[in-house]
Amino acid sequence: MLVSPSLLSADFGNLDREIDMLNRSNADMIHIDVMDGVFVPNISFGFPVIEAVAKRTEKPLDVHLMIVHPQNYIERLRDAGATIMNVHQEACLHLDRTINAIKKAGMKAAVTLNPSTPVMMLEDVIADLDMVLVMSVNPGFSGQKFISNAVEKTRRLRELIERTGSKALIEVDGGVNEVTGAALAEAGADILVAGNYVFKSDNPAEAIDRLKAL
Ligand code: DX5
Ligand code: ZN
Repeated sequence: MLVSPSLLSADFGNLDREIDMLNRSNADMIHIDVMDGVFVPNISFGFPVIEAVAKRTEKPLDVHLMIVHPQNYIERLRDAGATIMNVHQEACLHLDRTINAIKKAGMKAAVTLNPSTPVMMLEDVIADLDMVLVMSVNPGFSGQKFISNAVEKTRRLRELIERTGSKALIEVDGGVNEVTGAALAEAGADILVAGNYVFKSDNPAEAIDRLKAL
């Protein structure tokens, strides 16, 4: 299992220390949640923070954009240091065009699905995707309760990927812990995002290792 700790739950007054902890840990990437107060009812942070994180880590940056018009920020995000650009299906009128532009800019292309968006919305683009992010909470906040239909959704997505021969990895985000993570692993998830479970733990590096072992 790959693990992408969500920085949203980190102590922003001590960001260097938090990133150094992740650098020493077995985290496979760092999940960065960008919110605009329009697509979701919360505002997090933007490019200056992403640039600062990129400067202090070698880990790939897995950037989850909870914003409207993500297609307007492709080059900017690449220049800020993103490795993976996650756009929400619900935020993209021309998803195929946006996916191609992300890849052309040199990043990995990922599409995120809200809990209410069915897997079939990705049938016609799945072949082009590097990753699909399944939301297991309604996006906007860390520390929310896991929505259990994400397990069946992960299973359906795994079937679609196998049926079409797509190389897309499945990432799941929201309310992930050892219990929900184990169910997701069994359903076919490749990457677990975890905010509170990692950063609110007494030993974040060990919490990461417990998820990696699932
Ligand atoms: C929610 C974010 C998540 C969040 C996860 O909108 O996309 O990445 O930080 O936090 P936990 O793991 O605490 O649910
Ligand atoms: Zn996220």
